[in-house]
Amino acid sequence: MAATNTMTKAPFGFSNLPDADIYHAEKTFGAHHYGRIDLVVRKAEGCWLTNHEEKKFFDCLAAYSAANQGHHHPHIVNALIEALKGHYGSVISNVVYTDSLAMFLKRLATTVPQLGPRFGAHGNKVLPKNGGVESVETAVKLARYYGWKQKGIEDGKQEIIVFERNFHGRMITTVSFSPTKKYKEGFGPLTPGFKFAKYGDLDSVEKLITPNTCGILVEPGQGEGGMYMPPAGFLKGLRELSDKNDLVLIFDEIQVGLGRTGKMFCFEHENVIPDAVTLGKAISGGLVPLSCMVANSKLMDLVFRPGSDGSTYGGYPLACVAGNAAIDVLIDEKLPQRAEEMGRKMKAKIDDIASRSDKVKEVRGRGLFIGIEVNDGDAMKYCRQLLELGVLANDSYGHTIRMSPPLILTDNEIDYVCERLEKVLVG
Ligand SMILES: Cc1ncc(COP(=O)(O)O)c(C=O)c1O
Repeated sequence: MAATNTMTKAPFGFSNLPDADIYHAEKTFGAHHYGRIDLVVRKAEGCWLTNHEEKKFFDCLAAYSAANQGHHHPHIVNALIEALKGHYGSVISNVVYTDSLAMFLKRLATTVPQLGPRFGAHGNKVLPKNGGVESVETAVKLARYYGWKQKGIEDGKQEIIVFERNFHGRMITTVSFSPTKKYKEGFGPLTPGFKFAKYGDLDSVEKLITPNTCGILVEPGQGEGGMYMPPAGFLKGLRELSDKNDLVLIFDEIQVGLGRTGKMFCFEHENVIPDAVTLGKAISGGLVPLSCMVANSKLMDLVFRPGSDGSTYGGYPLACVAGNAAIDVLIDEKLPQRAEEMGRKMKAKIDDIASRSDKVKEVRGRGLFIGIEVNDGDAMKYCRQLLELGVLANDSYGHTIRMSPPLILTDNEIDYVCERLEKVLVG
């Protein structure tokens, strides 16, 4: 796929190499831990990605929700540039204070509704990390320590209930409770202490509760598991079971939070408040790694003391500058409301396409978190056809085409995507 490069000036850190050379370099020098689609993105702006021939692709993936605000949102970019020019962006050390961290913690703690109401109205506290998986593991520590310290469970015997089709990242503990064989095969010994319940089935959860159960970890919408929203009443039932059995209820909103499903937090749809929530991806607008676990202050203070956690880059100033600016954009541009409105329009169009297609099994989702499950179970086949037509999408769980564009998309862009979906799914 070698082609003449039309971009003449290569900024530092990039090259003007043809696509074929980029593929070759990645394959030769990089670990092969991703099956990549043949597209080299040279530029990303708003909802659009550009290749070496200046051909544009609509981004229906938005980096799995990291780019909810659109790529290179000017407000976030400017905040980062100012921090770098002003010399307050670098990692200093977590033994001293920085104002960007303080400002970000306050902003996020007060943006999230009071978590863990049964622990009292003490406010929330935030523990910042880098990738999302780190915050999930931090939440696992929160629940386990609570079980030991507060419930008297013998240390090492704590159990957390997780769900079929879950995805929480790919480090040792999170893959230990992944249902997906390829994520964990050969990587043992795995971390014990997790039990599987059926997503949406409260009875299956209740049956797993023992005196050693300390928490429930659930996605209030399963992104990697096939774009499923839970049945009405499920999250409320989990809240009741947690209250009755003194369990820490953790919602992983790394993919579905921060506006994606039409509310700032997915748990707001059913007004069910967890004790802790994990956030990542769009928390920095897709520009630097940042993730957080937010919990009721009382719970956070019970579990985390100096030495019990830490991360060199976790909450470093540049990430916090991006985090503050990313929250500004979500609120100022009313992106949750926009996701609700545009998601409704987009889903109606997709439902119409599906009604005329013999390839679609089901359309599901909420806001701009929409899945199109295909009858033949090979969603990637349709994603490759979409790419040819100028839309980047990928599959979720093999059988579902994932539609999760940046939340800033316009009516015309919905039409652009749906015209192409029509060609691929109807003909
Ligand atoms: C629900 C959920 N949790 C955790 C993660 C892991 O986040 P990261 O890839 O940033 O480690 C993801 C990533 O897709 C996710 O969707």
